[in-house]
Amino acid sequence: MNTPLSEFISQYQTRVEQQLESLFSDLKHYDTPLLKAMKHSLLDGGKRIRPLLCYAAAEAISEITPATDAFASSLECVHVYSLIHDDLPAMDDDDLRRGKPTCHIAYGEATAILAGDALQCLAFETLTNASGDAEQKLAAIHTLSKASGANGMVLGQAIDLNAVDTQLTVDQLETMHRHKTGALIKAAVVMGAISAKASQADINALEDYATALGLAFQVQDDILDVVSDTETLGKTQGADAERNKPTYVSLLGLEAAKQKAESLRDHAIAALSSFGNRADTLIELANYVVNRRN
Ligand code: IPE
Ligand code: IPE
Ligand code: MG
Ligand code: MG
Ligand code: MG
Repeated sequence: MNTPLSEFISQYQTRVEQQLESLFSDLKHYDTPLLKAMKHSLLDGGKRIRPLLCYAAAEAISEITPATDAFASSLECVHVYSLIHDDLPAMDDDDLRRGKPTCHIAYGEATAILAGDALQCLAFETLTNASGDAEQKLAAIHTLSKASGANGMVLGQAIDLNAVDTQLTVDQLETMHRHKTGALIKAAVVMGAISAKASQADINALEDYATALGLAFQVQDDILDVVSDTETLGKTQGADAERNKPTYVSLLGLEAAKQKAESLRDHAIAALSSFGNRADTLIELANYVVNRRN
C-alpha cells in the first residue's frame, strides 16, 4: 500500500472509530449484554471501508464536514448489523468475525439479533442527529434506508440464502452481489457526496464509480474466501465452499474472477475522469479494494 493511502486509511479509521465510540455515550444500561454485544461487534476491528469511501467522496467534492462524520458512522452501524445477522446460525452460521468470536457465539443468538436490530436503529438516529441542513439529512436517510432494505442489502441476503445448493447464472449472481454488498458501498460514496453538497452531475459520476466498485468488492470477497487464510481474513477461510454458496470463483473459476474484479476496478476509475486529481483517494481506494488481502 502506498504511503498517502495508508495515511488516509489510518487517519479516517481513527476518526470514525472515535465517532462510533461517542454514539454509546447516550445509551443507558451500559453494562447490559445488549450494549456489550453492540460494542463487541461495532468498536473493534474491520477495515471501515464504507466510512473511508464516504470521507473520500466528500473530499473529492469539496471538504469533509460534521455531517460526513455522522453519515460515515451510520454506514458502519448498518454494515455491522448486517454482519451480525449474516453470521447467525440461520444464515451463514459463522463463529469468527474480525478475528473474534461472532456476536452470537459471544453473547447468544437472541442478544445478537437484538444487537443487530439496535445498531440499525442507531444508524438512523445518528443521521437525524447529524449537523447539516434538513434537506441533506433527508437525502442521507433516503439513500441509506433504500440501500439497506428490501430493494438493497436485505434483498441481496435473501437471494443469497435461497441460492445455497443451487446453480445461479452469472447474471443472477451479479444481481445478488450488487444488492447484498454493492448497494451499501454505493450509498457510502453517495452519502459522502451529499455531506459535501455535491451537484447531481457529480453524484451521477460517483454512482457509476461506486456501482462498479461495490461489485468488485464482493468479487474480491469471494476470491479471498479461496486464496486467503483464516488468520489474515479474521473470518473462516473456505466458508463459502463449505456451505456450497454460489460465488464468482465457483461459477467462473479463480482467474476469471480476478479478471472480473480488475475490469470492474478499471471501470470504476474511468468513471472519475471528470474529477481530475480531486479523486486521487477514491482511485487509490479502488485499487485497494481489489488488491486487499483481508
Ligand atoms: C464483509 O465486509 C462482508 C461483505 C459485505 C463482503 P468487509 O470486508 O467490509 O468486512 P469488515 O468490515 O472489514 O470486517
Ligand atoms: C455478506 O456477504 C454480505 C452482508 C453482510 C450484507 P458474505 O456472507 O459473503 O460476507 P462474509 O464473507 O461472511 O464477510
Ligand atoms: Mg452471507
Ligand atoms: Mg457470511
Ligand atoms: Mg464472503
